[in-house]
Formats: sequence, structure tokens, C-alpha cells
Amino acid sequence: CGIIGRVGDGNAIEPLLTGLENLEYRGYDSAGIAVQNGSGINVEKRSGKVQDLKESIRDPLQGEVGIGHTRWSTHGPPTDANAHPHTDESEDVAVVHNGIIENYAALRERLAANGYEFTSDTDTEVIPHLVQYYLDAGFDSETAFRQAIDELEGSYAVTVMVSGEHVLYGARRGSPLVVGMEDGEYFLASDVPAFLEYTDNVVYLEDGDVVIVDEDGVEFTDCEGDPITRTPETVEWDPEQAGKGEYDHFMLKEITEQPTSLAQALEGRIDSANGRIALADFEPGTFADVDSVQFVACGTSYHAALYGSLVLNQAGIRSTALLANEYSVSAPPVDDDTLVIAVSQSGETADTLAALRQATAAGADTLTVTNVVGSTAAREADDALFIRAGPEIGVAATKTFSSQAVMLTLLAQRIAADRLGDPPADLEALLAELEAMPGRIERLLDESTARGIADRYSDSESYFFIGRGLGFPVALEGALKFKEITYEHAEGFASGELKHGPLALVTPETPVFAIFTGQEDEKTLKNAEEAQTRGAPVIAVCPDGHPAVDAADEHLAIPETVPDLAGLLANVQLQLVSYYAADLLDRPIDKPRNLAKSVTVE
Ligand code: G6P
Repeated sequence: CGIIGRVGDGNAIEPLLTGLENLEYRGYDSAGIAVQNGSGINVEKRSGKVQDLKESIRDPLQGEVGIGHTRWSTHGPPTDANAHPHTDESEDVAVVHNGIIENYAALRERLAANGYEFTSDTDTEVIPHLVQYYLDAGFDSETAFRQAIDELEGSYAVTVMVSGEHVLYGARRGSPLVVGMEDGEYFLASDVPAFLEYTDNVVYLEDGDVVIVDEDGVEFTDCEGDPITRTPETVEWDPEQAGKGEYDHFMLKEITEQPTSLAQALEGRIDSANGRIALADFEPGTFADVDSVQFVACGTSYHAALYGSLVLNQAGIRSTALLANEYSVSAPPVDDDTLVIAVSQSGETADTLAALRQATAAGADTLTVTNVVGSTAAREADDALFIRAGPEIGVAATKTFSSQAVMLTLLAQRIAADRLGDPPADLEALLAELEAMPGRIERLLDESTARGIADRYSDSESYFFIGRGLGFPVALEGALKFKEITYEHAEGFASGELKHGPLALVTPETPVFAIFTGQEDEKTLKNAEEAQTRGAPVIAVCPDGHPAVDAADEHLAIPETVPDLAGLLANVQLQLVSYYAADLLDRPIDKPRNLAKSVTVE
């Protein structure tokens, strides 16, 4: 998850370890460095904190060239063996990598057949072996590096060091990589804060860029090896600001990251050529015996679980979403054909773990959907599905919600296909829409009018969110986000429930955000108008040209898509409304009072 590389005079150890400490804020579960000093490459790596790594380096390490990494597990648990840097068998090539190598299984098989021995579960480990394979074939190291990355499918920011050479090779595709330049000292990193103490003169690499860095400078080339020009910029961040980049808060940064985090979640999981869900995480037929599904989760993860449960019901599989903290007193019966799915960003929420353990004891099959590979819930369940959202620092969950909901939507279709035999009729359309989603969110973020709306209604008494079908969990999540970070009263309702009680609260001081997903929109519009008649301003969250646009007082636009995904686009608009409303009130957005990112007590 964090990369640092350094070439220059003097010992690289200090800048490398400082770099790793500076990257700690991103969240990680393992750390490591590799340096070389003329007698080969020395690697020190382990699961745990950078401090643990520092303490485990007993012999004074020396070397002018080095690379370092903080890992956030995506393939394989956080063990010493899975920590980066990874090397080939003879430690001639050392590699740090961020991203996902989609074709790693095929590469691994080919390299293993050629006698290259693997020692970790990571996708990254194919890279050092691949470079070594080309070195063994007689290529010089730059060519070997280029040949190797040419074979990689997926996304990467990669930095490679070859024994006996005062050089770092770097390449970027789909994952950030930055060059830092000071006289006689050069850096490669995933993120500027890694080297900000040493230089503020940086070049942000673009996808397809390949760099060769030594103590005399940086050679910028494209993937063909032709020289390209990249202009350095001076960054004017203080170290505290640096982690947030250009954003005032991690929450806004994480909202904005959703196109990338979703693309990463989906990578390799949709087989669009054959119109089917790949989800290679599970063997074909894994869910063939699943008769019913119970989701257990808390907070935002519960809203994602509810979303997944509704998709499953619509796909023809009996399912229900339960609050994990209610499970001990109100769990429905389970049998061998019940699958219990724990949904938890952290995988450490005590309430969710308790429900998971209860389900296991009752004989259910269990599955965890989480962002944290080495987490307790991932380890304790029979199986795990990772949402690959990357670390989330803001206490209020944003990008992890969208990744959870999207992965649960995919999983629901996969369960239905395994159980019912045929893939659902509209699967192909859904998969195409899923693939288009990152781009759509990008556009939505660019054009959002959320800030103005937050501003115009900032004096309100209470904020209501309504939705029907898949819009309902989004309404709940919209309200939760709003109350968490603004400290204002907010509530989410099923649209049709408004008239059964909450309407008594409606006044001109209670703006109603109405979410339209394409499921019985005319009824939702009628419900919104019932509030409007009582003076409430209505903010329609729907595509341009939708009948609600004219009827409502305000419009938050979402791109057209299928009902299974529209609510998730609406949710991004609502995240922005909450963010800007909280910002106007000057709330401590990333750390709201009384809340914790992960609650490890019941
Ligand atoms: C805490 C956080 C919430 C989160 C909930 C569940 O209460 O403040 O934002 O949704 O825990 O966390 P989990 O890690 O299980 O998704």
C-alpha cells in the first residue's frame, strides 16, 4: 500500500524507514525494506508495525540504494513471508508493488513449471521471478524489467532493484507513483509524504510511464522505451496536510477515491467476454446448496448488507439482513443450507464477530465480506471475500460502503446462479453497468451540486432521507452519514412509511432527500410530494430528465443506470451533501465525537 525507494550517497536506511513511518497513516499490516551494498541485496521484512521492523533490524544495515513497503493485504494474510519486498530465490531482484496483478496465477504456474520457487501467497511475487527469468535468458536488467512489466495485467505501481546496480526501475499503471528529486538523491514513492522531509520537488508519473533512477538523475520513458518529458512541480504541503493531498479531510479524499476503489474491487471479477461473474474467489458451484442467506453487520456495513440482501431476494434467494448486535436474541433458525455472511469493513467489530461465532456454532456455513485481509472475521469464517477498497482513515465509512455494496451485488448474482442453475436474465446488462460505474462516479463528482444544496439548507431543523427498494438502505445510509458528521438530526425512511408516522414531523424546516432508483419511482414521487405539500423542501436525487426533477425544489443529478446500481450513485451525492454540511458547521469531520472507526466491544 505504501512504496518508498531511494538512490543517492550515504546510507539509505534512514530515508527508507522515515518514508515508511510517513506512510503509516495510510494503514498497513506489514512492513519491509531491502538495501544493497555491493555484496548482494539484504531484505528485512515482517508483519506488524514499522516500529517492530526497526527493532528487528539487529545488524547495522548499509546500502545506498534501497526500497521499502508498507503492505495492506489483498492476496494472502499479513505474514512475514507475504510482506514486501519480494525477491527471486537468489535475492538478485527485489520488488515492491502496489495494485493487483490479475494474471498472476497463470504467470506463477508458468514460472513454477520453469523451476522458479515461490515462497509467498502474494500476486507480487511473480514480478521478481519474471525479471529473473528474463535476466536468466540473457537480457540486461533494464530490458528484463521492461519485458516483465509488459506481461503484467492489472494495475501496478512497481519499484525494482537488481543486485549489483545502483539503479531503481519504476513503472506505473493504475496505481500512483511519484518521483522526488534533490541533488544527488532521488526517490520513488507511492505518495509525496513518504519523502517530504528530503525534497518537495516532484514528478507525478502517468500511466504507462517507466523510469530509470540513479544518483545522477531520472530517465523518463514511455512503455516502449522512448524518452518522454515530465515537468517537476514544487509541493507546498506541510507534513500534516500531506497525507490528505489536496483535500481538507480524509473523508473528502476517500469519497473522491471511489472510482479507483470500485475499479480495484471489480478488477478480474467480471468476465465480460463471456457475460458472467468471474468471482474466482470461489470455486464453481460453491453456493449450489445455499437455501437461504442471513447477513449480519453493524452501522454502515449493515446498510450494505441490507442492500445485498434485497438484491438476493430479487434474484430469487431467500435472504435477510440482521443487525449483528440483535443476532444473539433474535437470530432466525439456521441449518446446513444456511449461509451466514458477516459484512464488516474492519473485520474486527465485536458485535459482528459474536454473531459470526453464534452462526458457526449453530452449524451454518459462514462467509466474511471485509476490507481487511488478516482480520479476525476473515480468519474465523469458512470463506472470505475482500472488497479491496484500500485503507479508510475517516471514521465515517464512504468508499468501503460502495465497495461492499457492489461486491455484495456481484456475490448475490453469483449465489443465485450457483443455486438456481441459470444466470439471471439481465446479468449481462448489470455487468456492463458495473464496469461503467467508476467512470460515472467520476463524472458525478466533477459535476455535483451538493455543496450549494448543503449551504441552502444549513439552517434546517432535521433532515429526512427516503427511498424505496434498493433506495431504502441508501436512505438509511444517507441519514447515518449526515448525523455522524454534522451532529444534526437526520433520519432515513422507506418512502412509503413517511405517511405512517414521520409525516407528523414534516415542516418547512425539514428538507427531504428523495432517492429514485427506477423501482416504483412514481410512488416515491407521490410520497415526496406529500411532504412537499406540508412545506418541506424536496431534493430529488435522480437522473436528468426524470419526472421528479420538475416536481422537486432541488435536484442532485445521477447518471442513468440500472435499478440495481442507481442507489449507489445517489449515495455518492448524499456523501457529498453530508460532507459539505459538516464542513460549513466546522465539525471535526474525520473524527466525529463519541465515535470510533472500529468498535471492539459488544
Ligand atoms: C463503527 C463505525 C461505523 C461502522 C461500524 C461497523 O461503529 O463508526 O462507521 O460502520 O463500526 O464497522 P465495520 O468495521 O464492522 O464495518
